[in-house]
Amino acid sequence: MIGVFDSGIGGLTIVRELVAKLPEYQILYFGDTARTPYGTKSPETIITYALEDTEFLLAHGAKLIVVACHSASSVAMEVLRDRFPHLPIFEVVTPSVEKALLVTKKKVIGVIGTRATINSKIYERLVRLRDPEVKVYGQACPLLVPLVEEGWLRKPETRSIVKKCLIPLKMRGIDTLVLGCTHYPVLKKIIAAKAGRRVRLVDPAEEVALSVRRFLEDHPDYARHLKHNGDPLVYVSDLTEAFQRVARLFMGRNIQLKRYAGPPFG
Ligand code: DGL
Repeated sequence: MIGVFDSGIGGLTIVRELVAKLPEYQILYFGDTARTPYGTKSPETIITYALEDTEFLLAHGAKLIVVACHSASSVAMEVLRDRFPHLPIFEVVTPSVEKALLVTKKKVIGVIGTRATINSKIYERLVRLRDPEVKVYGQACPLLVPLVEEGWLRKPETRSIVKKCLIPLKMRGIDTLVLGCTHYPVLKKIIAAKAGRRVRLVDPAEEVALSVRRFLEDHPDYARHLKHNGDPLVYVSDLTEAFQRVARLFMGRNIQLKRYAGPPFG
């Protein structure tokens, strides 16, 4: 199975794209709803959680991992790759950086995300390695996660908070904006409207699904070992009616969440 983990259910935006681009493979998802959010926590805590989430997926049959959480992708990849050296692990930052570099004409890229993601400066580092002439500006937008989870998608308050988040980036003259958080693709229309016509959005969900697809096409032997077909299996470490409702929002359709509260999550 393709194992996907996130701090909660926002990572279903990634599952949705994986299902669209790789419908033949079974997906196993783990959302750590009991310990969400990750984006406000320290790198050390996020790393511990990311290791535990990966262990859960491996113990339940995953053979390839997608880190859907941007906060975990930003701070935990070195440790994850060290701990599981033979496991193909995908994350959401690198494919978005590569796409942003293809798209930007003015060589000025903006990134919005949680505090953990923006403070990690991972986008700046990865861009500098590929093209030192490109400028990257990050902006933490911590209020957007709870607004999305409350379903405030069309409220004027949400529009005005999005607008406020983007002002510093627009002042820098960005022409490309990376949606560096699982929740932001749900707000794509508002973000696009407030960013303005001249700013191209990069949706990491699409980019990571494409990179997993390319990997499986290039490694048919590997692909053969993955389980085929079946609806995604979605586990969460805490389950409430609200999570079930929000899952529909992220996935675009009803999806049954199952609770896993064994150690270390229970
Ligand atoms: N999944 C997180 C991310 O993409 C957002 C929610 C959280 O802070 O846990 O960074």
